[in-house]
Amino acid sequence: MPVTDPFNRTLHDLRLSVTDRCNFRCPYCMPKEVFGPSYPFLRKAELMTLPELTRIARAFVSLGVAKIRLTGGEPLLRPDVPDLVRALKREVGAPDIALTTNGWLLEKMAAGLREAGLDRLNVSVDSLDEATAGRLNGQGFSVARVLRGIDAAAALGFPIKINCVLQRGVNDGEIPALCEYFRGRGHTLRFIEFMDVGNTNHWAVGQVVPAREVVERINARWPLEPVGPAYRGEVAARYRYGDGGGEVGIISSVTEPFCRDCHRARLSADGKLFTCLFASLGWDVLGCLRDGADDAQLAAYVARVWSGRLDRYSDERSELLASGDARAKIEMSYIGG
Ligand code: GTP
Ligand code: 5AD
Ligand code: SF4
Ligand code: SF4
Repeated sequence: MPVTDPFNRTLHDLRLSVTDRCNFRCPYCMPKEVFGPSYPFLRKAELMTLPELTRIARAFVSLGVAKIRLTGGEPLLRPDVPDLVRALKREVGAPDIALTTNGWLLEKMAAGLREAGLDRLNVSVDSLDEATAGRLNGQGFSVARVLRGIDAAAALGFPIKINCVLQRGVNDGEIPALCEYFRGRGHTLRFIEFMDVGNTNHWAVGQVVPAREVVERINARWPLEPVGPAYRGEVAARYRYGDGGGEVGIISSVTEPFCRDCHRARLSADGKLFTCLFASLGWDVLGCLRDGADDAQLAAYVARVWSGRLDRYSDERSELLASGDARAKIEMSYIGG
């Protein structure tokens, strides 16, 4: 039974985090000085198990969720992710299952994911330059290995989108090189405005490269034509290269927010439901399950939370920041973007 919030936004996507850990330390997400050896990551007993993930996903699908995206931290750090994909396909009947990854383990895991029935992949690539990429993943890891993972996944038939978070003066000079590389390989590249997620990434508005500027810069080299959204509430604005070179997208949460159509629920790896990426508090769905709730009760709990949802953080960002709002927000790596 479909459920809507007070702004008439349906529940359409579930972003399911399977771990809050990551092998990268991107400074805009998990700065090393904060996410060091003493950081209180979730303990194994706190994480949803595979049967728990499956049951919770089923409750969401019964409320109209048509797309499930597996996220982290880095979801491929959990070796049971292919089994989870298989269960979501076979037992839950989720129509579209996607996964967002940093690509480090993709070369090794792509075949298992394909065989399990994963539909699509989004892979982060912030730079093609080894020195910049190493700085941006915080570990000095080579982007060449990520690119090999993407090639391996593409060879298996996965539709792939590339996510690139732009920061002024850090990697925006690489816009043409990134377009060139991924156009040539048939993957849709999406540039993402650097967002003020969490409390630790030292975000400042001056680092954001506005979507409009990105489009103008690409358009000057390869004329672009806007393409309508594939469905209501799609995160990225889509453009087609006029020369037939495929598509490029822009995710503009800062300069052109898209809260009006936001239909995404987020579940942290410890089973808390967040109704916005910038929320402070989550609802304990896993707690309900572990207290003995049956499938109908779980669905009713989620429906109650969703039907009271008033979130529109990105629409309100400017006023909140101007008024000195300093709420504690959840971290990106905890909620999976
Ligand atoms: P597609 O289904 O392929 O369109 O994926 P997606 O863009 O929904 O997911 P992905 O994990 O690739 O996210 C890309 C970027 O969009 C990340 O930086 C996310 O944090 C951001 N994003 C996704 N959903 C939302 C949202 O509801 N609000 C905001 N502010 N950002 C979002
Ligand atoms: N702003 C924008 N995007 C971010 N991501 C992580 N942190 C931020 C941020 N502060 C991106 C990752 C990945 C996606 C899930 O979210 O690069 O592509
Ligand atoms: Fe890890 Fe992704 Fe965060 Fe980078 S952005 S630290 S890859 S979770
Ligand atoms: Fe949805 Fe919150 Fe993002 Fe707005 S800021 S689009 S309400 S997740």
